[in-house]
Amino acid sequence: MNYNKKTVTDIDVKGKKVLCRCDFNVPQDKQTGVITDDKRIRAALPTLQYLLDQGAAVIACSHLGKPKGEVKPALTLAPVAKRLEELLGRPVIFAADAVGPDAQAKAAALKGGEILLLENLRFDKGEEKNDPAFAKALADLAGADGVYVSDAFGTVHRAHASTAGVADYLPAVSGFLIQKELDIIGGALASPKRPLVAILGGSKVSSKIGVINNLLEIADTIIIGGGMAYTFSAAQGGKIGDSLLEADWEDYANEMVKKAAEKGVKLLLPVDTVIADAFAPDANSQVVPAGEVPDGWQGLDIGPKTIELYSAAVADAGTVIWNGPMGVFEFPAFAKGTEAVAEALSKTDAITIVGGGDSAAAVEQLGYADKMTHISTGGGASLEFMEGKALPGVVCLLDK
Ligand code: 3PG
Repeated sequence: MNYNKKTVTDIDVKGKKVLCRCDFNVPQDKQTGVITDDKRIRAALPTLQYLLDQGAAVIACSHLGKPKGEVKPALTLAPVAKRLEELLGRPVIFAADAVGPDAQAKAAALKGGEILLLENLRFDKGEEKNDPAFAKALADLAGADGVYVSDAFGTVHRAHASTAGVADYLPAVSGFLIQKELDIIGGALASPKRPLVAILGGSKVSSKIGVINNLLEIADTIIIGGGMAYTFSAAQGGKIGDSLLEADWEDYANEMVKKAAEKGVKLLLPVDTVIADAFAPDANSQVVPAGEVPDGWQGLDIGPKTIELYSAAVADAGTVIWNGPMGVFEFPAFAKGTEAVAEALSKTDAITIVGGGDSAAAVEQLGYADKMTHISTGGGASLEFMEGKALPGVVCLLDK
């Protein structure tokens, strides 16, 4: 994928109406609707502030949750408008629809230096279907002279009307957030400072196949942790007791071990594991060598020897990419592996990149966020990027 794309500084936005796709898909308290983490709103600020400083009239838009084409009041973007207003320190006008009469009237009246936020794009079926009529209606809000700025990195893997289709109707460039994500993650994949160490965790091998395949071509070392390590262990004849197993993926796991050896990529698997007699925070636990999990017990974290091995690999790295926790880090008793990896990343001189989702949440929860070179704002998006897939929300932007 070519990601040498025009950015917001390569196009004149002064006095123009700019449709800016952000990823305001933020977590909220289910009862109160209060935003529990505003990181994604903060991540959009540099681009929004730049556009406003340039005198652009900014029409910001986003999805929130999965309303599937229906108006779901609990998924209104109104709380985001309020938070954005606080963070920008200026009024944010809110439209009660995305392309309907309210949005049209408010977009038409919008002046340079003002910002309007549209209602949840996914309240309209046209958004996820990438319906050209919906894409054109969005583009029309910016008018004939309008510009489209894509800054929703978390959503670039979706070919939706607001992330891809709209680029057929307006000159399309990236904002600072997408530019930063492309530069850092893209740079690490294309020409990493070596050795490149990839740490892959999470529960399922099946959800990491694309990443493992792609990283086997690029990385010097691949470290496997989390629930998926037990499928590797079982594939190699280990006893995994009641640990998580994807039996259908055992052959694949063996193939990966073989392929890594052929390519000279170091593939590190756990050498010991913390096992529990139940999937519960207060379960009884003990450490056993990998592949020696008794029946009635399940592995919930990497063990101390594995922590030592993985931390040493990270200490010597030039670049580290991390995606997926090492254990059930939601339970404090089984969070040590994930904590140790986060700590190792915080201490190394390597470029450290944390994929979005669970590993990003872990790093933040543990207070190591400031010590990382980059924490991606994209979960699925960063995963697909690391798989080497073309991202529709990037492909549609103008080349430099
Ligand atoms: C995310 O949270 O990963 C993005 O906002 C994309 O959301 P989606 O998975 O609902 O498309």
